Amino acid sequence: MSKKLLVIDDERSVLKLCQTILEHKGYTVQTASSGEEGLRLLAEFAPALVLLDYMMPEMDGMQVLKQIKNIYTDVYVIVLTGVGNESVAVEVMKAGASDYISKPFKSKDLLERIENVLHVRHIEMVNQRLRCERDGLQQEIHHWNKELELRVQEKSRELEQANREMVQAEKLATVGHLAAGMAHEIRNPLNSIALTAQLLQAECEHDADVQSYTQNILAEVGRVDTILRKLLSASEQKNRTETSGICLSSCIDKVLELFSEQIKFQKIKLNLNIQRTPVYIAAGADEIEQVFTNLIGNALFEMKDSGTLSVNLRVENDRVMVHVGDTGGGIEEDNLVKIFDPFFTTRSSGTGFGLSVVLRVVKSCNGTIRVESEPGRGADFYLEFPLEQISGEHAVCVRS
Ligand SMILES: Nc1ncnc2c1ncn2[C@@H]1O[C@H](COP(=O)(O)OP(=O)(O)OP(=O)(O)O)[C@@H](O)[C@H]1O
Ligand SMILES: [Mg+2]
Repeated sequence: MSKKLLVIDDERSVLKLCQTILEHKGYTVQTASSGEEGLRLLAEFAPALVLLDYMMPEMDGMQVLKQIKNIYTDVYVIVLTGVGNESVAVEVMKAGASDYISKPFKSKDLLERIENVLHVRHIEMVNQRLRCERDGLQQEIHHWNKELELRVQEKSRELEQANREMVQAEKLATVGHLAAGMAHEIRNPLNSIALTAQLLQAECEHDADVQSYTQNILAEVGRVDTILRKLLSASEQKNRTETSGICLSSCIDKVLELFSEQIKFQKIKLNLNIQRTPVYIAAGADEIEQVFTNLIGNALFEMKDSGTLSVNLRVENDRVMVHVGDTGGGIEEDNLVKIFDPFFTTRSSGTGFGLSVVLRVVKSCNGTIRVESEPGRGADFYLEFPLEQISGEHAVCVRS
């Protein structure tokens, strides 16, 4: 507990007397004979308590008191007032004095008042420190709560994602069984239908109606066959054993080449940013080409009358990142979690298998895929594959 006291009084005899009494009691005392001098001393001496005379020429006790309370909130003040001047006492207490004592005073009274005020000050300072500590702790708790909330949210999202992927995998497995059976059962009669239609076409070479009907039959047979092939491709589980890599950027180039006519026809602007370091991934070239065919096919479907197709590929540490983006119609928020489901489609001619194939292949390479999109603002697909050094300085490989 600080024992530093400052006495401010214009009467030198009072200053001397106070100093003697207080120093005798173990206080460290400094004195000032005017308000101005007192305020100057306050900053450097930093007392716990000021004994302040009310009646002083030039700057009176009230003015000094107000300045002290304004600037030094932890300096307590006892005002020395004239006898019988109760209104002054009320006034100084209102202005922040901790106590007042009437002149002339007994040294015993003075010491008692000082001790009391210092005791109260000590308790209030401890309280203040505890309040500060409590506020700090509350802030820390608040911060940790927020952090915890964020972590819980993040884990929930991861869990949801894992659940969704599990459901998708189960659906794919079911589709796989179905597809194998269906393909077997349907393809044979389908083949017969196609052969018969072709026979009819040959027989009735000059009959325009028959030609048109059989053409329709063959087109529809073709459509069913495509659906069956996509279904099989979506559910196919390949157990890859060898890890000889295929060059990722070459696959992308090849797919872009296949789409080049369509890109030109639809007046699509290409925004390519492909890191030309040879990046190998341990999937079959046909599978990876299928991934980019499906992604770019979807993007182009969305940009029938012009737009920008972006394809970016870069290697970062031990990952290869690929981005395929378009400026088409985008995806409704509710659909974002459904688009990788087999059978999910919003297109009249779609089968909803394209992205299931993409997901299956990416997963089989231990990769990840995520989508960002807003309706009317296009869609961005981000793929990541883990890399592994194979041979040569720059050759990197994704192992499945
Ligand atoms: N780039 C894209 N922009 C907007 N929507 C997209 C995009 N890619 C996919 N989608 C949405 O996801 C759905 C599923 O896509 P997916 O490729 O799996 O099937 P599909 O294109 O409908 O049919 P298909 O089996 O013929 O590819 C689409 O119907 C569409 O709603
Ligand atoms: Mg598609």
